[in-house]
This record gives sequence, structure tokens and C-alpha cells, in this order.
Amino acid sequence: MPITVGTKAELRSEIARLMEEHAGRRGGGASLGLGDASAARPSLGLVPTMGALHDGHRSLAEAAVAANDVVVVSIFVNPLQFGDPEDLERYPRTLEADVALLDSIGVDLVFAPSVEEMYPGGDPLVRVTAGPLAEKWEGASRPGHFDGVLTVVSKLFHLALPGPAAGRPAVFRAYFGQKDAQQVAIVRRMVKDLDFPVEVVGVPIVRAEDGLALSSRNQFLDEQDREAALVLSRALRLMDERAAAREPLEPDDAVALIKSQPGVDLDYFEVVDPDTLEPLAFNCRETPFTGEALAIVAARVGGVRLIDNMPLAAR
Ligand code: PAF
Repeated sequence: MPITVGTKAELRSEIARLMEEHAGRRGGGASLGLGDASAARPSLGLVPTMGALHDGHRSLAEAAVAANDVVVVSIFVNPLQFGDPEDLERYPRTLEADVALLDSIGVDLVFAPSVEEMYPGGDPLVRVTAGPLAEKWEGASRPGHFDGVLTVVSKLFHLALPGPAAGRPAVFRAYFGQKDAQQVAIVRRMVKDLDFPVEVVGVPIVRAEDGLALSSRNQFLDEQDREAALVLSRALRLMDERAAAREPLEPDDAVALIKSQPGVDLDYFEVVDPDTLEPLAFNCRETPFTGEALAIVAARVGGVRLIDNMPLAAR
């Protein structure tokens, strides 16, 4: 079983202990100040989550365990990123099942703090703001959401990264699901703009056999809604096929496909630059596709808001 801790002090001391333990296994040169320190220093992976873990989270934790010596998963339902207090209240909390899942993957440490532990003075006055990247797509329907995400993610980065006394990791990686493509782009931008010593790893979307992107919200879809929701991944695949064949993308065809599906209320469908999330500068209608892009979509299906995306690459 991974060790589960609830305080920042325990998180720091457990990470320091695990790092020391792994440095010992690798020859201990780093902690003793001998030889090539980076060769002996363990790598550290952090997987920030809000719990209620499903197979999408499993792939994040598995990727972290495969690439790092020490892996920490945080489970914290962050009030700062919820606009609606009822949504926050309703968010599933399943710590015991989450820890059991993480145990089966080989995670070392779970950090599951209370709200008081994370924000002892109440809501923080100073926050990290996501700026213009957060003004559109998901940000447009969830004002303040990405500021809340960045504020908690930056706290988690600071808390998990051991200080020099404990021995810096050879590399510190943080894992995020590519399903929330805008979140990944914004976190990458924060890391770049604010010089966090973190390598951000975007882990590809996990899909059910029928193509639906895994999400904790899928449980709220009835059979008919779920069938209708498949149009989203079909529309993305249409763009993928055209991009691969270097054809003009014609995103209007994807929009028409989605709009033709009863029970699906389209919010947006767009082909964007994966870093800036701006619509592609070139004409997707007549010009053959070259390079890389990201197709993004959001829609309401049976009252449930779903998002999905697909990286596009000319092959
Ligand atoms: O993607 C999530 O679950 C959350 O936004 C995150 C990154 C854990 C921050 O609370």
C-alpha cells in the first residue's frame, strides 16, 4: 500500500525519505556528495488529481511509475476551481478505492490534504492567473477555473519538490491528462513563464472501445445519450483522417456532423494551435493540411457537458 499523508510536513518528510532510500539503492553518491550526483539522484513524478480515479487516471499513474523512481499522487478536491458550490459539494470523494487503485499500480505516496491544510488562511488572496489563454473554450464557460487550477498546481509543485537538504531529484515530472488539453497548455505556459523546474508530461486520452473519451461524467449518460455522444469522437476522427492524408480539413463538415446528431447541443468545435489554443492561422477549408494541430470539441449531451480533443498530424 502507498503511504497516505494529509499534511504538508508529512508530504515533505516522506518524499525526502523516499528520495534518500532510492539514492541509497542507486549507490548513494548524491546524498554523500560523491561522484556524478545526477546519475545517483532519483527522479520524482507527481500526478495531481482530484480523486474519484478512473482508467484515465490509471494511465497517468502508470506513466509516472514507468518513468520515475519515486511517484506521488495528490488527491485534493480544490475549491478554488469550482464556480458552483453545489458542484463542489457533489464532487465524488472515494479515497479508499482511489488508494487501492494506486496501490495496484505501485505508487509510493498519496497526498490527501484537507482544505484547511492547503488553504490555512481561507481562500488565498494571491493567486496565479492564467491570463488570455483562459479566456476562451473551457475558460469562457468557467470564469476563474484555470486561475484556481494554476494556484493549486503551483502549490503542489512547491510542496512536492524537495529542497536542497533532502536532495533535488534528477528530474521532476508532473503528469496531466491530455483530455483537458487547455489545462495542459496553460500549465505548460505557467511552467515556462514562471520558471518552474518541472517537466510537464501530457498523457494521451484513454478511450472506451466505442471511442468515447473516458471521463468521470460519462456515468451520468444514459444508453441513448452515450450513443449520441459518440458523434464527438467521430467528428474528431474525420479531422484526423483528413490531416493524415494532407487534405483540407474542412472543419465545417465536423460541425455539420455533430449538429445532425439529435440530443447533442454543440458548444464549440475548432481546430487550434496546440500551444496557443488560437484557431489555425491558415485556411483549413481550401489549403491542404501540413504540420500539427489540435481539434477540440465541447457539447452538452443529455444535460452532461462533455469535452474531447484529438491531436492532428500530417503523415
Ligand atoms: O485535472 C484535475 O483533476 C485538476 O484540475 C488538477 C490538475 C488536479 C488541479 O486540481
